[in-house]
Amino acid sequence: MKFLVLHGPNLNLLGTREPGVYGAQTLDDINQSLEKLAAGFGCSLIFFQSNSEGELINAIQGASADCDGILMNPAAYTHTSIAIRDALTAVALPCVEVHLSNIHSRESFRHKSLTAPVAIGQICGFGRDSYLLGLRALFNHVKSA
Ligand code: DQA
Repeated sequence: MKFLVLHGPNLNLLGTREPGVYGAQTLDDINQSLEKLAAGFGCSLIFFQSNSEGELINAIQGASADCDGILMNPAAYTHTSIAIRDALTAVALPCVEVHLSNIHSRESFRHKSLTAPVAIGQICGFGRDSYLLGLRALFNHVKSA
């Protein structure tokens, strides 16, 4: 089993970006934790981060060739991107949406996710654990499909 792990804009700044909101861990820390969990599941991961909407869409389209699912934090594009939602619908891969922060307890413009309705589910508010819980959920979903 192989999954694409997709990180959206500004997540490359984790570690220094608003640590009170997003935590002190870097994107590399998160990816390493995911690698460890994935190794236990016997699955492999491809990591991709971009600040550009088009590159994220290209990665989603590319995943349809060789991935079994997508673990994604679309970051701010969660709240704005019909194009990313359409790409997810087009490839029809199972997808779990994660957020470090609890988007529902923050500014009202973060409450709405355009992408969550085309995902299997959304996990938010648990920092790095959102990603780890998301990977577990995605793995179990694909395994039992
Ligand atoms: C985020 C929440 C988004 O609202 C924000 O734009 C981000 C990060 C999170 O992981 O908590 O960049 O996706």
